[in-house]
Amino acid sequence: MAPGELESVARSLVEPGKGILAADESAPTIEKRFRTIGLPSTEENRRSYRELLFTTPGIQEFISGVILFDETLRQKSRNGAPFPEVLSRQGMIPGIKVDLGARPLAGFPGEKMTEGLDGLRERLAEYRGLGARFAKWRAVIEIGEGIPTAYCIEANAHALARYAALCQEAGLVPIVEPEVLMDGPHTIGRCEEATAATLGRVFSELASHRVELEGMLLKPNMVLPGKECPEQAGTAEVASATVRCLSRTVPAAVPGIVFLSGGQTAERATEHLSAMNALGKHPWELSFSYGRALQDPVLKTWKGDAANVPAAMRAFLHRSRCNGAARYGRYTKEMEKHGG
Ligand code: 13P
Repeated sequence: MAPGELESVARSLVEPGKGILAADESAPTIEKRFRTIGLPSTEENRRSYRELLFTTPGIQEFISGVILFDETLRQKSRNGAPFPEVLSRQGMIPGIKVDLGARPLAGFPGEKMTEGLDGLRERLAEYRGLGARFAKWRAVIEIGEGIPTAYCIEANAHALARYAALCQEAGLVPIVEPEVLMDGPHTIGRCEEATAATLGRVFSELASHRVELEGMLLKPNMVLPGKECPEQAGTAEVASATVRCLSRTVPAAVPGIVFLSGGQTAERATEHLSAMNALGKHPWELSFSYGRALQDPVLKTWKGDAANVPAAMRAFLHRSRCNGAARYGRYTKEMEKHGG
């Protein structure tokens, strides 16, 4: 790996006007998404769906990189080109999800621990050989009665830092994703508290593990009230709470923060990102790495029918263009009228 390559890849992923597509749904998750449109999750259905996303004309104007699942990294387009090559030929950087999912944390009811460190060094070397230039690991933190515990935060932060150090050794930019979930009736204040505690611990572990901050990206949740909280928050409140929380916990050396959408509607996720960028110049790029908020409208339009592919591609391009505008704080509801 050339010196400075990690930083240069990290910076390209958060280039102004662009963001990341998370298309790394594991087998059970993509099955759940396909079920919403009544489509069986066969290998060919998964392949055609991902091909639709990756070959949408003009998408590279708004999408800098794509996170893939192991199966997709090894699949090919209809013309026989491996997907990582399809992406890089269009100027999009291929990435790979490398965690093996979150499992119940023994002794800590209601909390989870992400697995996948065993054998990770060898897997990372193989992924780099297959064309991946960045990776993702997601930790899950739940808010509830008496949780998150400090131990759950610590255990997950430690694993995130071990993963990040191994990625940098292998020449892959780690996306460090500690997600505080939106599930539950908690207030926005509790979300801010849990997010700040989590990020504080994550950056302390990253420092202990000698992770180079310039060569990584952070993928956090936005600061939001729980889905069942009776007091929902307005856009300005979400934007200011999120930026405040991040400025207190994320060092300026980190090139970019790429939010997950976490179950927000596609339009809310765009509005929130735009409002944060409109708050002014931040020490890091504020961008997106959305899964559902980019793909939900595409799936609903496609419905598994080849005849709907052009319309589904238009829906994807529209959502990506709106998020591209949000990168400059320039998204307006008016843009929705010209989409789809
Ligand atoms: P959502 O945007 O649907 O939350 O997915 C992003 C992601 O990659 C979660 O790990």
